[in-house]
Amino acid sequence: MSQFIIQTQRLGLRNWIESDIAPFVSMCQDPEVMRHFPGVVSEAEATTYVRDYQDHLEQHGFTYFAVEELSSGEFIGFVGIKHQTYESPFTPCVDIGWRLKRSAWGKGYATEAAKECLEFAFGPAKLKEVYAMCANTNAASEAVMKKIGMEKAGSFVHPAIEANSPLNPCLAYRIVR
Ligand SMILES: CC(C)(COP(=O)(O)OP(=O)(O)OC[C@H]1O[C@@H](n2cnc3c(N)ncnc32)[C@H](O)[C@@H]1OP(=O)(O)O)[C@@H](O)C(=O)NCCC(=O)NCCS
Repeated sequence: MSQFIIQTQRLGLRNWIESDIAPFVSMCQDPEVMRHFPGVVSEAEATTYVRDYQDHLEQHGFTYFAVEELSSGEFIGFVGIKHQTYESPFTPCVDIGWRLKRSAWGKGYATEAAKECLEFAFGPAKLKEVYAMCANTNAASEAVMKKIGMEKAGSFVHPAIEANSPLNPCLAYRIVR
């Protein structure tokens, strides 16, 4: 049986395994990857995220999935859907999110994986709508949202980001089944 929950032409999306943690920590400590976040995160914090993603999969049947490049078998980051409960005009909701290591950028990978995640969201997961959020500075992420058919729903000050940070206001995009 395939280890992948979702498979695209070039990518496999699966549960997280212990060997993903080291490359995930490296990604989360790359300032370029974390440019549109408040900062890089510690090894302990990144590991906590992985545990949270694993728990979320067990509870809900979906998560921010670990993404493997099929041609190399390498872990390249995450793409997936996840419940969000922080305070904003658009939450609680399920959002779609993505973070890839720098060497995987610019190949259409985020778009390819995200399209299949939306199929999963509106198919097996039976969701009615999915949101996506990003800092207003994050043009690459916003481009992915548009390319997968999402439309701008509005903007908001993210409670986890300082109100006067250039990352705020954050943008919210939405797609309905
Ligand atoms: C956002 C991210 C996942 C995109 O991954 P990717 O696989 O390179 O994305 P894709 O190749 O599928 O699509 C990216 C699109 O953005 C465009 N793009 C990239 N950088 C851009 C920029 N600075 N300004 C405008 N558009 C940009 C690309 O041209 C591409 O569009 P195109 O195919 O029409 O040319 C990746 O850049 C990343 O991991 N960034 C760091 C983490 C992050 O910010 N995550 C999102 C948090 S909300």
